[in-house]
Amino acid sequence: MLISDAPRQAGPDAPLVEPTVVHGGALPGSGRGRKHGTSKTEPFDRWFRYPAGFASDYVTSLLAHLELPKGSTVIDPFAGSAVTGTAARRAGHSFYGVEAHPSIAELGQLKLNSAPQHSRPLSETAKDLVIAAESLAVSSTSRLNQESDLVRRCFTEPVLTRLASLRDLIKAGAAEEWHLYAKWALLGTLRDVSSARVGWPYQRPGSERKPTHADPMIRFLQRVSWMEEDLKQACEFASDLNFKVVNGDSRSQISWAEIDAGGAQGCVSSPPYLNNFDYADATRLELYFWGDVSSWAEMCASVRAEMLTATTQQSSVGAALSARSKLSNYGTVFKSIEEIVEKLTAERAARRRGKEYDRVIPDYFLAIAQVLEQLAMTMKPGAPAIWLVGDSAPYGVYIDTPRIISDLAQELGFSSEKDVVLRRRGQRWASNTTRHDVELSERMIVFRRVL
Ligand SMILES: C[S@@+](CC[C@H](N)C(=O)[O-])C[C@H]1O[C@@H](n2cnc3c(N)ncnc32)[C@H](O)[C@@H]1O
Repeated sequence: MLISDAPRQAGPDAPLVEPTVVHGGALPGSGRGRKHGTSKTEPFDRWFRYPAGFASDYVTSLLAHLELPKGSTVIDPFAGSAVTGTAARRAGHSFYGVEAHPSIAELGQLKLNSAPQHSRPLSETAKDLVIAAESLAVSSTSRLNQESDLVRRCFTEPVLTRLASLRDLIKAGAAEEWHLYAKWALLGTLRDVSSARVGWPYQRPGSERKPTHADPMIRFLQRVSWMEEDLKQACEFASDLNFKVVNGDSRSQISWAEIDAGGAQGCVSSPPYLNNFDYADATRLELYFWGDVSSWAEMCASVRAEMLTATTQQSSVGAALSARSKLSNYGTVFKSIEEIVEKLTAERAARRRGKEYDRVIPDYFLAIAQVLEQLAMTMKPGAPAIWLVGDSAPYGVYIDTPRIISDLAQELGFSSEKDVVLRRRGQRWASNTTRHDVELSERMIVFRRVL
C-alpha cells in the first residue's frame, strides 16, 4: 500500500495506530533506515559523513512513496547535512530545511547551492592550494603548539603540519569562490588521515590506529574530485526550484519565516533520538580544527545553543519543570509522559549518581510538540509527513517515542496514518551501565496535516 493510500485517522480520540512489522519487499528502498549514517559513496552524501544522517537512497524511496507532484516543496525541521534536500532536488522538488548545528547547516546549504559559474575549475584551484600548502608546511612545524590538544593528539606531526597549512591558506581566501568547497573537502579528509580512533561518533585521541588514508593532500584532492563530479550532475536539475537550509531552531517561528504558511507539500525528517547522542560533540574534531570553538563551554554555548534537549548533559531542573507545566496543555499524551518521568525519577533515586533522564524527557517532548506546531502552520492541509524515529529504554524504562510523537501530532492538527517497524536495534544509551532486555526498534511514522 502506498503511504498516500493509507487509511486516515483524525483527532485525539482516533484509535491508536499499532506499529506493524514490515517484511522484506514491502519496505520502501534499501530498508537500511538511519543505521549507516550518510553514505560514503552516494553523490553529495560522500562530501562529509555526518553520523546522524540517514541513507539517501532510503530518503529517495520515502519521497517516491509520498507521490508528490513535481515542483512540490519538501521540508525537514531537522535537516542535518540536507540528505532530504539533495534527494528532494533529485526528485524535482524544492526544499526548505532547518538545522541547529551551524557548521552542518552550512554544509547542507553548500550541497544545495549551484556551483560558482565562470570561475577557474575547483580541481585546478585545489591543486594550486596543495602546492602552496606544501611549501608553507616546510616552514611551519613550529606553529603546531597553537593547535588544540584534541587536534594535536589526532594526527602525526607531519600530517597535521600539512593539514594546518592547507587550512590556513583556505581561511586566508586562497580558494576564493571555492572557499567553502575547499573547506569541506579538507574537513572531510580529517578522519581519513587521523592516526587516532576517530571513527564516528566519538573522538578517542588516546587510542591509536592506522589512518585509512596516508597522504592528506591526495585524499583532499580525491574529495575535491567527487565534489566536482556531483556538482556537474546537479547542473541538470531544474533551475526554477528553491533550496534553503536555515541555521536555526525549528521550534521557533523565525526559522520558518522564509517559507509561506501552508507552503510545504511534504515533510521527510528524522528528529534526534532519545539516546544521549550529542550532535555537537560528534563533530568536535572538525569544530576545533577549523577554529570555530576552542573549548567545551564555547561549543555548548555556540553549537548546542539551538538544539533541542535529547541528552542528559543538556538537561536542567528548571527546563524540565517548565516543560512539565507546558505539556499539561497537550491532553492525554501528558499523562503518559508524566508516568515515564515518575519511573525515571525513581530509577535515578535508586542509584548513587543516577543520570537525569527524567529531566530530559519532558523537555524533549515539549520541543517536539513545538516543532510540530510550526509544521502545522507550514504544511498545506492534506500534506503528508514521514519521520524516522527510534524508541528507547533508559534504565530499562520503555519510552515509546514514535507513538508519543504520533499522539502529539494528533493533538496539533495532524492525523496519524502509519507506524511501521523498520528494523530492530541495539540498546543505545551509551552511558547506561544497567543492561535491560527491552527490544528496541527504529520506526517510520506517517502523519498528515488535516484538511
Ligand atoms: C537525526 S539528525 C537528522 C540528520 C539528517 N536527517 C541528515 O540526514 O543529515 C537530527 C538533527 O537535528 C538537529 N537538531 C537538533 N535540535 C534541533 C532544533 N531545535 N532545530 C533544528 N535542528 C535541530 C541536530 O543537530 C541533528 O543534525
